[in-house]
Amino acid sequence: MTYAAITGWGKCMPPAVLSNDDLSTFLDTSDEWIVSRTGMKERRVSHVGAIELSTVAASRALACAGLDPADVDLIIYGGVSNDELVPNSASGVQFALGATKAASIDLNTACTSFCYGLTTATAMIRTGVVRNAVVIGVELISRYMDWSNRGVAVLFGDGAAAVVLQASDNEEGVLGSVLGCDAEGRQTLRVRGMGCTYALHDITYGDTIWDFDGQSIFKRAVHAMSDASRRVLEQCGKTADDVDLVIPHQANLRIIESVAKYAGIPMERVIVTVQKYGNMSAATVPVALVEALEASRVKPGSTLLMPAFGGGLTYCSLLVKWGERVTPLGQSAAELPPVTQTALEMVNAIRANQDPHGRSRDGLLAPVFAESSTPAAVE
Ligand code: COA
Repeated sequence: MTYAAITGWGKCMPPAVLSNDDLSTFLDTSDEWIVSRTGMKERRVSHVGAIELSTVAASRALACAGLDPADVDLIIYGGVSNDELVPNSASGVQFALGATKAASIDLNTACTSFCYGLTTATAMIRTGVVRNAVVIGVELISRYMDWSNRGVAVLFGDGAAAVVLQASDNEEGVLGSVLGCDAEGRQTLRVRGMGCTYALHDITYGDTIWDFDGQSIFKRAVHAMSDASRRVLEQCGKTADDVDLVIPHQANLRIIESVAKYAGIPMERVIVTVQKYGNMSAATVPVALVEALEASRVKPGSTLLMPAFGGGLTYCSLLVKWGERVTPLGQSAAELPPVTQTALEMVNAIRANQDPHGRSRDGLLAPVFAESSTPAAVE
């Protein structure tokens, strides 16, 4: 039997930090409100594009695995943030890495994109389609955040991380995946302004309106992540006691605590990064995984549970068995260029570009196609 071992890992966090106090310079919010409702204290704002963030993360993961880019069979770019839609983003990473023979796929299931990508790459390795893969989780949300909306602007951040998967005879890597989608709730999280629905409008890139029903998403997220975790444990014949570490999606500390409580796993066994990075959507799980490895919290043979959810509303939970190696084989020299502006200066520059026409943004970003043209659900 062939398995897909995780043999390399690397992250790329942009250095510029946006604090809660920075946000209160232009939003009616406070450090106290943000920390008490979300657990977030700061987040990162990238000065480079998403392909560049991804390439540095992937270079580090490849060096960690000791795999030459020229030998990579598959790159999966997981995330919502694309520098451009055509050409796709995975091809940009392929080119920058020199991974000339790698199939290159963009995979968007919103915040679950990395976990869905990990499952997809695992299946392709286990069925012999490819022998190895680089799976990336990346987001550059600062560029299309609606910075005038305090309900969402305080929640998100930028970042990237990647893992390398390689075929192995040992029983390790992703051993079980439960994937699903609570599509009835898809209206609760929508970014208006990106996509063909809006293509006929004279909009400026980055001028968006977010429809975001935080309380509904919160409840649906806790239910979906908890249920998927229960099911994946059952599928693999495991119990909560078998789980050494939970590496969950990081949208809100209270969501993480609720999911851990339902799973019957104490918070000491849960990796939390939300306080320093906010919600990086698809990048949250891989960044948390890399930090768990860097902190020696992943041990040889550890069993990891990875629950996640996101727009769609997609959800999943993965059960991962770690292999013997928890240290990198090599280091990459890849680095981001130095940053010359503060995070707040970058955000203020993006804000200055939003709504340059002086028209009602709500009208500007109304869908071209009426909502009723969406096919009705079939009973
Ligand atoms: N600063 C200050 N006040 C704010 C605020 C902010 N940034 N954002 C909202 N508020 C206000 C609201 O306007 C509301 O005021 P009102 O009572 O006068 O109407 C009040 O705070 C409470 O808002 P509420 O929505 O009830 O807060 P909450 O406790 O549900 O927390 C979220 C809001 C968004 C943090 C929470 O619902 C959440 O995390 N949801 C899940 C979001 C998520 O995970 N999204 C990502 C999907 S991948």
